[in-house]
Amino acid sequence: MSQPVIEIRNLERRFQLPRESLFRPAGTVYALNGINLTVEPQQSFGIVGESGCGKSTLARIIMGLDKPTAGSIKVMGKDINAVTPHELRSMRSDFQMVFQDPFGSLNPRHRVERIVAEPLFATGETPGKQERKERVGEALQSVGLRPNDMEKYPHEFSGGQRQRVALARALITRPSLIVADEPVSALDVSVQAQVLNLLRDLEDQFGITFVFISHNLAVVDYACQDAAVIYLGRIVEQGPTSALFGRPLHPYTQSLVDAVPHVGAKRDQVVTRSPAALKTQTSAQSGCPFVDRCAFARDICRSEKPELQVADTDHMVACHFAQEIGDNRQREKVASFA
Ligand SMILES: Nc1ncnc2c1ncn2[C@@H]1O[C@H](COP(=O)(O)OP(=O)(O)O)[C@@H](O)[C@H]1O
Ligand SMILES: [Mg+2]
Repeated sequence: MSQPVIEIRNLERRFQLPRESLFRPAGTVYALNGINLTVEPQQSFGIVGESGCGKSTLARIIMGLDKPTAGSIKVMGKDINAVTPHELRSMRSDFQMVFQDPFGSLNPRHRVERIVAEPLFATGETPGKQERKERVGEALQSVGLRPNDMEKYPHEFSGGQRQRVALARALITRPSLIVADEPVSALDVSVQAQVLNLLRDLEDQFGITFVFISHNLAVVDYACQDAAVIYLGRIVEQGPTSALFGRPLHPYTQSLVDAVPHVGAKRDQVVTRSPAALKTQTSAQSGCPFVDRCAFARDICRSEKPELQVADTDHMVACHFAQEIGDNRQREKVASFA
């Protein structure tokens, strides 16, 4: 087996908030609480969960843009917190990031040629003018734009095209890993599928590993073979997207699946879905993080934190009653078709 692209062990990230008053201790946000994750090469791996669950924090740590409070992270076999800034800079050409906002992430005053070529300079490659133009042209073509588009400014493109420009910029250093944080969330639904198809083509064509982050399970299901579901900074379920969708075991994943509109969906049947936004966790928790939103919670869920355990072959879940809940759901599904 080849070396994993990403290996994360017991990763934690806490943020210290400024003191609100002289007489009260400063608050802490528990953004990531013990993440373990291995991403194998040449796959697209999804990370899914509600806004505020820690996805972007995880992405920033993978990219070496933020440091964990505890735990380790290796990218391409290297501990990215132990490498020197110089090493990180040269590693950069091998992993790139694409952000959600195709408007904010492209400098409006620069032509596309300069925007797309920028990572070449950031990583210390200094190709001549001719080679630079060729590489920018190639990168634009690989995302379905024309080489002459390099003369244009970002405002001359639509949202979907701008996200293509952002992808071309990520591709220019021929990376083996791209972390895409909500790459289609700001786009119209009709354009989302085009960009998702493009990501799939790029994965096939260049053998790139994608870490694909989204709050939308349907999008992750479309774009990825495997995924992890995050709730309050913890992986609560992980496996092939076909299993997460077909037989979700964690009540939280079930609520995400049920929130995806599809024919015959019976909402609120399995989980009482809280309309409240995800609350930030501000204290270390003893029991299951999902306990207050779970329709199946029992005493043990308040006192004992469920660990991520193998449920089916490559399907893992952190819930004391996962099998029972999964079986019940299956029975209800069958009954609803009878
Ligand atoms: N720099 C920061 N300072 C304080 N809190 C932060 C900071 N960055 C993120 N957080 C908090 O960490 C949690 C996770 O945030 P984030 O990773 O952005 O979630 P997501 O990308 O899933 O929406 C949130 O509660 C957020 O408010
Ligand atoms: Mg985010």
